[in-house]
Amino acid sequence: MAYTEQYPDCNPHTDDPTFDDTRLDWDARGFHSPSLQKQVLSLKQSVADHDELQWRIRKNCFGFPKKEIPQFEAIIDRVIQVFTRHFLQEPQLGNIVRVLSRRMETELPNLVSFNSSLVDQTAWERVSQAEVVDNGRAVEVDLLPLVRDLMAHLNINTYTGTAFLENYPDFTDNLWTLDRYFILMGSGLPRWFPFPGLIPGHLARRRLNDACLSFVTALDALTEGKDTDPQWLDLSDVSQALIDEQSCMRSAGISPQGRAAQILGTTWAMNANSDSLVFWILLRILREPGLVDRLRAETAPFASATQPAQLFGIPEPPRLKLDINALWTRCPLLRSCYMETLRLDSSPWSVKTVHRDFELIESADEAGGAKPETFRISKGQYVEVAFDLHNTDPQYFDQPRKWIPERHIKVSEPADGQPAGTGPGTTEWGTLRVYGGGKSMCKGRFFAEKECLAFVAGMLVLWDFEPVGAQEWKLPKQTKMTAVVAPKGNIRARIRRRNLVVSEK
Ligand code: HEM
Repeated sequence: MAYTEQYPDCNPHTDDPTFDDTRLDWDARGFHSPSLQKQVLSLKQSVADHDELQWRIRKNCFGFPKKEIPQFEAIIDRVIQVFTRHFLQEPQLGNIVRVLSRRMETELPNLVSFNSSLVDQTAWERVSQAEVVDNGRAVEVDLLPLVRDLMAHLNINTYTGTAFLENYPDFTDNLWTLDRYFILMGSGLPRWFPFPGLIPGHLARRRLNDACLSFVTALDALTEGKDTDPQWLDLSDVSQALIDEQSCMRSAGISPQGRAAQILGTTWAMNANSDSLVFWILLRILREPGLVDRLRAETAPFASATQPAQLFGIPEPPRLKLDINALWTRCPLLRSCYMETLRLDSSPWSVKTVHRDFELIESADEAGGAKPETFRISKGQYVEVAFDLHNTDPQYFDQPRKWIPERHIKVSEPADGQPAGTGPGTTEWGTLRVYGGGKSMCKGRFFAEKECLAFVAGMLVLWDFEPVGAQEWKLPKQTKMTAVVAPKGNIRARIRRRNLVVSEK
């Protein structure tokens, strides 16, 4: 896709490291070459920061009370530290990933239930128009909602505990509605303003806030040793991450409404990108001849499934075993597929408000022998880094529009006496950036990688996928979202159980 298709109002050139972004009717200067990106992301907070945007999102998209913003500003660094500790640092990251892994082992075998009745189907089947076909041997589904909703259940249950989605089963639907209108909601326009999307966006946010508030009220009652509403009787599996985040904000006097908005913000961040990303990774893998077999071979020691012997005529679901850390560190082809999908199927951006005039100077390398250019940015402007413009730049990525599964694998030196190219493979990000950068860089990136790799490996070991109504998998057109793109239209898939080795009881 040409730059101009992605940014219809911008006028970037392949040899121009900057562009003007007029999409949101703001005075924004964008940069996409690596050296300029790096300089923008390392600007001092006093020169430019993402604070204004951050608070705008918290207030307009997540419903954080405006009057409490100064109070939250005073403790935001502490709250981010709590989040960082649980999602980026060991041993806490390991703890939350272990819970996620057990949930995946239980739920991935239930991807489809082979039940025709809506009442007996899982929540993710109900939203994906599941239809049992081929005399009960296969199920046809809409692939995006199926995998997206299953991922959302795994993620949300891991973070909030299971009572939350049991009490608010339509939470995910409302989350997708908020996500669809996220940038519009971020504008802060009121509900009555005649613009398509504002009413559903506001209604979804209201329902999401109500669900989170009821949950926070129950958590507060539990903390204070008071009786909780019977619907919240079992809160024993709420994550330590959520408990610590709430306790940090509660001790600083943030209201239940403010803390409910924080839960909404975290559940949105956890699900907005990873859940649709696994759809794109699966689709990209299924389209490449022979790749599914290569990935099954690579991941076999770390993602395995057996079929328990059938006793008394009652079929049991397959047993799945996942070693998430090994899938992350020892399966370079799988990880390279993840990176390559993010390269082509996401369009993340970082935006900062400029508080003081400053200059950026192009690196000598990027100037390519000419005099490095200087760019002057003025107070009051916005600076923006559009990572996808770099991620599809032919100067850095050979055949930039082609999805190449091995693109990010670097093969190390082979052992003594072994032929070239046979050394162990590792993956390298190089200049590819998909999680933003600087202070606001994604705090869930390790968790995201582990969950997406485990999800895809688990899917491939348990299930076979075929396209419906076509010989080949088609790649749908894309719509830009906040980072990972959304497909335009639907991909229908037929799913079958794989023949697994039968295990003794
Ligand atoms: C592959 C999936 C994901 C992608 C591509 C992604 C991408 C991003 C991007 C581009 C940003 C903005 C960075 C910036 O402004 O410079 C961000 C922020 C953030 N992400 Fe992610 N993300 C993913 C998954 C997750 C997950 C699973 C979590 C939670 C467990 C998460 C938590 C966050 C948080 C809390 C922030 C805000 C950080 C801050 O402002 O300090 N993300 N993410």
